[in-house]
Amino acid sequence: MKKRGANYLGLCPFHNEKTPSFTVSPAKEIYKCFGCGRSGNAISFLMEHEKFSYVEALKFLASRYNVDVEETEASPEVKIQQQTADSLYILNAFAQKFFSDALLNSEEGQDIGLSYLQERGFHAATIEKFQLGYNPAAPDAFASAAIAGRYNPELLQKSGLVVIRDGKTQDNYRGRIIFPIHSPLGKIAGFGARIIRNNDRAPKYINTPENEIYVKSKLLYGSYFARQAIDKADECLLVEGYTDVISLHQAGIENVVASGGTSLTPDQLRLIKKYTSNLTIIYDGDPAGIKAAQRGMDLAFEESLQVQLVLIPGQEDPDSYVRKIGAAAFRDFVASNKKDFILFQLETSLAAASGDSNQKARLVSQIAETISRINKAEDFTRQQDYIRRSSELLKIDENGLNTLVNKFIRERISKFENKAAALENATGITPAPKIFIEEELSELLNRDEQQERAIIRSLLEFGLKPWDAEKRVADYLLPEFEDEDMFDNKSLIRILQIYKTWYGQGLEPTARNFLYHEDQELAALVVSIMDFPYEVSENWKTFYEGKIPTRNELYREEVGSTLTYLKLRKIQRLMSMNQKDLEKSKNTDEQMMYMQTHLHLKKMEKELMGKSGTVIIKI
Ligand code: UTP
Ligand code: MN
Repeated sequence: MKKRGANYLGLCPFHNEKTPSFTVSPAKEIYKCFGCGRSGNAISFLMEHEKFSYVEALKFLASRYNVDVEETEASPEVKIQQQTADSLYILNAFAQKFFSDALLNSEEGQDIGLSYLQERGFHAATIEKFQLGYNPAAPDAFASAAIAGRYNPELLQKSGLVVIRDGKTQDNYRGRIIFPIHSPLGKIAGFGARIIRNNDRAPKYINTPENEIYVKSKLLYGSYFARQAIDKADECLLVEGYTDVISLHQAGIENVVASGGTSLTPDQLRLIKKYTSNLTIIYDGDPAGIKAAQRGMDLAFEESLQVQLVLIPGQEDPDSYVRKIGAAAFRDFVASNKKDFILFQLETSLAAASGDSNQKARLVSQIAETISRINKAEDFTRQQDYIRRSSELLKIDENGLNTLVNKFIRERISKFENKAAALENATGITPAPKIFIEEELSELLNRDEQQERAIIRSLLEFGLKPWDAEKRVADYLLPEFEDEDMFDNKSLIRILQIYKTWYGQGLEPTARNFLYHEDQELAALVVSIMDFPYEVSENWKTFYEGKIPTRNELYREEVGSTLTYLKLRKIQRLMSMNQKDLEKSKNTDEQMMYMQTHLHLKKMEKELMGKSGTVIIKI
């Protein structure tokens, strides 16, 4: 990055550009890209760029700058769990080094392990990158090294690296090739251990048992190595096996993870969703694999993932196929053989139903249910598209399918409402309602949002400055918003609430402190509300110094007019709603009431206008 005045300027890491538009302000501790609009602070940068969670980003920064992070709220059980987890990671790192060393530097490892991997075509660089290893055939090669290293026997057992047989601690993965399984942050959470010569009596793979760090449902093999490639390609390829991931990487196709042959879990889908909304499942055509993929798909739908399927022909799997046809041809094959997963499912089930009208009716209902799960406003065209294409496949009336889909949506909403009511009765807590806003209303809300943002900005910028002899600006503004109805935007209400809490506790609710709030969407909103510091050239600065009042000097006027203007907006909105009610009403009593309301509002408006006449109105 190059220094430009008080800021730094460089190429944006979030989108492709030739001229730099990514700006960092060290003084404000924020970045903003004027090309793609991304903005935030050090933490949100790591969250976006490295796909860390908030806590992961904090921990990363803390360890990078040698700051101790104290987790004060952990209960004793949580602490013990945390310690076990840390110890398991340390043990796994030790084991990985042991297995790699055995593979590369021992005669047995080279003769048996390395030659097997070489036969399969894995290059040295690939073996190194994925940290592949070998567990010698002797009963306790690893176990004795671990015991000599003073690893505690209980922990050793928990890790799955050893088993106790006849009172003796023995290796669990004897004579096997070792595939370390990395957490999304690159630490080793567990291992898959492959037998070298397939054999009916022993399982092909032995995997780490579930423990504090190996939670199969939350891990995807390869996610650590794939994360940046997935981000760049905006697509995640999903395969079944460890070797599929490794071969594709070696062929230069790096946006790939493996599920380990089971159906995707909600946590795994969420992990993918962090990187991209486009999931392409690459499976060999065997029905078991497809069945596995099918489970979990409704969930993918709800998470707004676009799921496509590519079937590898014949007896091949991605590993053997990419070897056979080469990287370029493999890419082409994937690109031109993607099928929409839902429609693929429909097509195959339809073929299986072969004209049976009962089965077909069930299918119609099933597909309508599935499509009804795409229920986000931004996915509306996608939903319509599915309705159209499915009705074509099913040879049924499009409107009919549409009605059925809507029926499922309504059922789900009323189920949600019932649940919400039950919860409210039981706990007194009202769950956040799903928002269904009429278009007209939402337009009105959007117009008010500018004023709401201006209030928040005044609070963040000037809140702690004096308003008059006794009060600060915050003391003047906050009582006006006792009733949160004054705000419509939910996120802005949250900022307001947090502001109140912090202010009430004597903390400083400045923009900077919001930047480090755990909720990074909130932090991003604050960045967008505050102007990015722009440069004033030295000449202009001296020229105007002391001559033109700055916003900082006029803050009382700005705060006053911002509040007045928001109130005016609200009153005008109320008037227009009242007007509509009046026009609709047929009852004279009601009409009288509306008229009186109108007069009352008009009077308030006039008073406010009088006030605003003396101050600056900004739009
Ligand atoms: P595969 O049998 O397709 O294995 O199982 P693979 O990865 O392609 O291995 P190679 O190419 O035959 O050497 C797919 C995945 O299912 C899980 C593993 O995660 C494997 O990578 N699996 C399979 C097990 O966990 N245990 C098994 O016994 C078999
Ligand atoms: Mn395979």
